This record gives sequence, C-alpha cells and structure tokens, in this order.
Amino acid sequence: MLKFKKQEVDIGEHFHKHASEYQEVVHGTNKELYQNISRELNQSLSGTVLDIGNGNVFNYDLSRLEHVIAVDIAFKNMTSTEKITYVTADARDLRGVKTGSCDRVVMQFLVHHIVNTSKRLTDSSVEQCFSECYRVLKPSGKLMIVEMVVHPVVEFFENLLYRMTYRFLSWVNKPMIKFYSLRGIISRLKGAGFTGWTDGEIEMGKWIDPFEALFPGKIKLPRFLYPAECRLISAQKLNP
Ligand SMILES: C[S@@+](CC[C@H](N)C(=O)[O-])C[C@H]1O[C@@H](n2cnc3c(N)ncnc32)[C@H](O)[C@@H]1O
Repeated sequence: MLKFKKQEVDIGEHFHKHASEYQEVVHGTNKELYQNISRELNQSLSGTVLDIGNGNVFNYDLSRLEHVIAVDIAFKNMTSTEKITYVTADARDLRGVKTGSCDRVVMQFLVHHIVNTSKRLTDSSVEQCFSECYRVLKPSGKLMIVEMVVHPVVEFFENLLYRMTYRFLSWVNKPMIKFYSLRGIISRLKGAGFTGWTDGEIEMGKWIDPFEALFPGKIKLPRFLYPAECRLISAQKLNP
C-alpha cells in the first residue's frame, strides 16, 4: 500500500516556477474565458483597485482606473509604476494596504488556493482573507470574486477527502486546492461581515485547461466535460 508522506509545498515557488506556462494558458486555451471576464470587470472596476492573487494577469482596462495595487504571494523583484504598485503578500494578511482605501477588490481564481493543513483551518483562512478585503474597502466599496464553483455534492466529497487529497498533492509536490460551492463562498462572505451580494455565470468558451494552476498547458478539455462553473460574485461593504 502507498504511504503518502506529508510535506508542505511552497505555493509562491510553485507559481513562480510555472509563470510562463501559466501566461500561455491565459492567452491560449483559456483566452475566451478571460475575455468574457474582462467584459464583466470593465463594467464594474473603478477608482483604486486591489487585485489579490494577481499573478501578473491584468485582464481589464487599466486606463480607466486611478491605481491598481497588485498583490501576490509569488511576486519577486517586481518594479512598481505610476499606475501599478506590486506587493508581495499573503491574501490573509494585507497589513501593507490601508484600511478603507480601496474602491474595488478583485480576486480571480484565488479562493481555491487559500488553503491550510485541514478543512477547518482552510475555511477560516478564506474567511480571514475576506475579512481583510472588508477592512481595506471604502464604505460602499465592492469585492469581486471570479471563481470556479462546484456543486455542493462535489464540495461535500472534497471536504470528506481533504486530508487524503492534501497528502497526495504534497507527495507529488503540488499545492493543495479546495473548490467551494456558491453557498460555501457566500457563508464565508457573511462570516467576514458582508451583508449583500449578487452573482452571475461567466461563459467559459468551448475549451478549458482544467489544471491551469497545477499543471498548466498539459490538458485541454471541452467545456461540457468540465465539472465546475465560472462565477462572478460581487459583495458590497455597506455603509457602517
Ligand atoms: C490561479 S492563479 C490566478 C492568477 C490571476 N489572478 C488569474 O486570474 O489568472 C492564483 C494566483 O494566486 C497567488 N496566490 C496563491 N495563494 C496566495 C495567497 N495566499 N496570497 C496571495 N496570493 C496567492 C498565486 O501565486 C497565483 O499567482
């Protein structure tokens, strides 16, 4: 019987190592998806935008924005410009970003990477990240989450098999991922203080790279076989 040795995988190192393959997928197989997301974001982004888990992907019109603070755990030696400030940080601890300073916070395909050693700690990590978003938003500011969401039954099995999946992915030197259902994300938004939200589906296009983050560029799947939906969830910080 196989025994999986538990080990920590450095997610920053993982994304740094695969940065160029990742960009190829964004501009290749998953191009249609990103174009559809851009259309949605361009209608809603304004003012000062905090982009968490940015990964050097700016799929929105920068010229319409005052300033972008791009945060990523994997950034190394990035040079900020007048328009973009690059910050290397963990999404759970944004102490470098001032309270009440952002009009919009956007996170695209980040939530499933906010993980920890157990399902319980992972859930509280996601809530901690959403609390940080709430803190940095101006009153009436909006958090916009673009994420692949799964059916609650899939989430149930993910939770059940959390430890095994964690150990297996560590064993093959890949970072853990955990997808949420829409309900799962919304309950963590509530826990972080958000009281109102809207959500809508984003069309993915005909083809999708299902493992864009773990093995970028290795697999191309017809959309109808992909077991998740891309959603844009928008949550507002109501005036206190
Ligand atoms: C799947 S990529 C998404 C990149 C880009 N936002 C996009 O839409 O293609 C996830 C990004 O989140 C970053 N990341 C993962 N965990 C993070 C964390 N705890 N804090 C900040 N960034 C994180 C990774 O380094 C990676 O660049």
